[in-house]
Amino acid sequence: MKITNEKNDIKQVLFTEKKISARVEEIGAQITEEYKDKAPIVACILKGASFFYTDLCRQIKCPIHMDFISVSSYGADSQSSGVVKLVKDLDNNITGRDVIIVEDIIDSGLTLKYLKELLMSRKPRSIITVCLLDKVDCHPAEIGADIKGFDIGDQFVVGYGLDYADYYRNLPYIGELKPECYQ
Ligand code: PRP
Repeated sequence: MKITNEKNDIKQVLFTEKKISARVEEIGAQITEEYKDKAPIVACILKGASFFYTDLCRQIKCPIHMDFISVSSYGADSQSSGVVKLVKDLDNNITGRDVIIVEDIIDSGLTLKYLKELLMSRKPRSIITVCLLDKVDCHPAEIGADIKGFDIGDQFVVGYGLDYADYYRNLPYIGELKPECYQ
């Protein structure tokens, strides 16, 4: 698979740079208010959350520790396989700390469920999840994020960190991919 013009593969833009940036600013302000004396560990789930994470961290106006974790569902399919694999662990010891997990999208919810259970077993003081996009119809309601950016339908979305077969991540907006590009 070789892609030469990613823009041509977008059916419609769902969230512009401006819209994303305004929502990230709001979430940053909310976290700043709630965590101003806690120096939380803000954990990025690689790679999809990378742009959301770095933009969000810059909108949090209180001390934080940045950390990274990488999990992956097996394969490059457009559907989540349901099997989660830990690729890179956090560097920090989170026991007794306040942790904020930053994710780009909840689809089946399996990644977030796996990660929350893994990190909870290390006895942090608190954990919340922040997710930019929530495919609300694709997972049980109890798996949802504590803070989320936007709800979306069951659409295949790329850009702003989200990929298909590792392409499209560097698009500055979030768009729906044309079905012929992944079917
Ligand atoms: C994607 C996405 C989420 C997860 C959501 O990650 O970034 O982490 O799938 O799917 P789920 O709710 O069905 O578990 P992926 O494993 O494709 O890795 P990536 O972030 O590196 O693209």
